[in-house]
Amino acid sequence: MHRDIFPAYHARSCHYNLLFPMKADTAIIARAVTKRYGSLTALDSFDLEVERGTIFALLGPNGAGKTTLIRILTTLMRPTSGEAFVSGLNTARQGREIRRQIGVVPQENSLDRYLTARENLELHARLHTMEPKKYRRRIDELLELFGLAGRQHDFPDTFSGGMQRRLVVARALIHEPMVLFLDEPTTGLDPQSRRAVWDYIRSIAGRMTIFLTTHYLEEAEQLCERIAIMDHGRLITIGSSAELKAQLTGGATYEIEFADRAELFAEALRRMSCVGGLEIADRVVTVKLERWECLAEVVSALNGAELRRISLRERTLEEVFISLTGKGVRE
Ligand SMILES: Nc1ncnc2c1ncn2[C@@H]1O[C@H](COP(=O)(O)OP(=O)(O)OP(=O)(O)O)[C@@H](O)[C@H]1O
Ligand SMILES: [Mg+2]
Repeated sequence: MHRDIFPAYHARSCHYNLLFPMKADTAIIARAVTKRYGSLTALDSFDLEVERGTIFALLGPNGAGKTTLIRILTTLMRPTSGEAFVSGLNTARQGREIRRQIGVVPQENSLDRYLTARENLELHARLHTMEPKKYRRRIDELLELFGLAGRQHDFPDTFSGGMQRRLVVARALIHEPMVLFLDEPTTGLDPQSRRAVWDYIRSIAGRMTIFLTTHYLEEAEQLCERIAIMDHGRLITIGSSAELKAQLTGGATYEIEFADRAELFAEALRRMSCVGGLEIADRVVTVKLERWECLAEVVSALNGAELRRISLRERTLEEVFISLTGKGVRE
């Protein structure tokens, strides 16, 4: 019956799907998303696809545009131009449907200070029209999991920053969202709480799509199958951690541990043209070579030295980040 009543709508939606084919396993899409705040372009024709059921990290220096993208994807803000989709729904036109399916941990904690921790969670569950029987059990579980059960009847203002953060993460999970957005979920958490959040994220991996921004590269590396790096509102690169590291060209770093006379050999190495940088700490000399093939030259220069080891230093995500953005992650 519906089809007969709305032929024009169906004709339009078919036309639409031809223009924007969407794979069934894609949870998030941004197509040429641009956002301007006055004369400032925070997102500049940003394209992205995130596969369903994956854990995805968006990295970028301060002001890169990460929160702006999350605001658009979570329907809090409209793009100036371009389109975005979450679970196949258009963020500009189907906000209500999207909000039912997503969980959001905003960058700034947004707890109701006049409600206790438990009441904050209950309010959220009721906004999502959950049955009390179901949400009471779920809230008990989450409070326990995030180490807040003992403080559930206290007000968030009396919590430490880390406890508030854990409460916000718990709140985002109550209604078992299909897509979870976490804008710097672990900023301000001590290492133990950070690991608790990581463990939880790992335990729900596969059941939902997780989109997170972080300034902890270790977090992205440990948790995320795919990582994107952005700066100045544009996507710079995307791939697995190994793929991103493989993009780093230009040389290799070796650590050479000497039994003795490290300074003497370090001096000889420093004079070699293929050595781009050298550091010495105790008896370990770290040399940056312009090309890994230079290793042969280096080894011959070490003739007569008593060596304990030569090892290739693994590239880090931080090196990739710095080489692509020109900045340290916390700048
Ligand atoms: N409401 C706003 N009005 C004007 N400019 C804004 C607004 N929100 C963000 N901006 C600007 O847009 C740019 C992107 O900001 P955004 O908050 O998206 O960056 P971010 O990558 O999340 O940074 P951070 O790592 O510091 O959280 C910045 O230059 C910021 O100053
Ligand atoms: Mg931000």
